[in-house]
Amino acid sequence: MQLQDKVILLTGADGGIGSTIAKQLHQQGCQLIITGRSEEPLNQLNQEMQGHHHVVVADLSHANDRQGLFDRVQKLGGIDGLINNAGLSEFTFVEQQDTQYLETLLTVNILAPMVLCQLFIPMLKQKSESFILNMGSSFGSIGYAGFSAYCSSKFAIRGYTETLRRELADSPIQIMYLAPRATKTPINSPEVIAMNKALGNHMDEPEQVAQTLITMLKKNQQTVYMGWPEKLFVKINSIFPKLVDHALRSKLSIIRNCATKP
Ligand SMILES: NC(=O)c1ccc[n+]([C@@H]2O[C@H](COP(=O)([O-])OP(=O)(O)OC[C@H]3O[C@@H](n4cnc5c(N)ncnc54)[C@H](OP(=O)(O)O)[C@@H]3O)[C@@H](O)[C@H]2O)c1
Repeated sequence: MQLQDKVILLTGADGGIGSTIAKQLHQQGCQLIITGRSEEPLNQLNQEMQGHHHVVVADLSHANDRQGLFDRVQKLGGIDGLINNAGLSEFTFVEQQDTQYLETLLTVNILAPMVLCQLFIPMLKQKSESFILNMGSSFGSIGYAGFSAYCSSKFAIRGYTETLRRELADSPIQIMYLAPRATKTPINSPEVIAMNKALGNHMDEPEQVAQTLITMLKKNQQTVYMGWPEKLFVKINSIFPKLVDHALRSKLSIIRNCATKP
């Protein structure tokens, strides 16, 4: 796909991965509509990109804001690509979970991307070359103790993306799924960082995720999983889940010790 002059809506644009994606798309000559909950960091990010782009403030957990975002994008002339990148996580065992937060997390991570896809598909179908990229995770293929809400939402976005690709196979819209492994951004609390350190799990830089995304778009790659051994674990988990049960069982006490307590 040719990226120069493509108009792209990027959610979660002021986050650790989102802001690096924005900067790399800017370097590729894209026109961006960057969205998030807070105006100031979005304006600051836009300034770092010579103020070339549009800022739209929207809280994706609110239906009115999702519709408002669509209306605003339509007024701005529409888009060629949608990147559903905004996301929330938590590192808590099921019995300690806060139900209200569970609802918000599922709304932001799965309902909002589904609603945005539904709203933007008719617009994207009108283009000769367009795309939707949904941000997944290696936790969208591996159920990991302490991350039940996050894993559920990422399993769901993976299933949704696969379905959408098959439903839109006769349309010009490319449907893509990127699954990073642990990455150094604010979504990971000090507890998650401590667990990754204790277990020897590698954490990528957000620039690596953004670079992978740019390559995916340029080469029209539908699905990419990042990192070894995570890629291998994803495969093993799909064929021999008991092996992964066993491996994670041996780490359970470390994971439980690190998890956030109420
Ligand atoms: N970092 C990792 O280890 C990792 C690994 C695999 C996949 N991912 C995925 O990568 C994506 C980006 O995460 P990140 O690591 O960059 O995390 P991050 O730095 O915490 O950024 C998350 C972004 O989502 C936005 N967001 C959260 N709730 C929102 C809401 N209600 N409405 C609108 N925007 C909202 C945040 O906006 P505010 O600034 O307003 O909070 C922020 O811009 C997520 O989908 C995540 O699941 C991350």
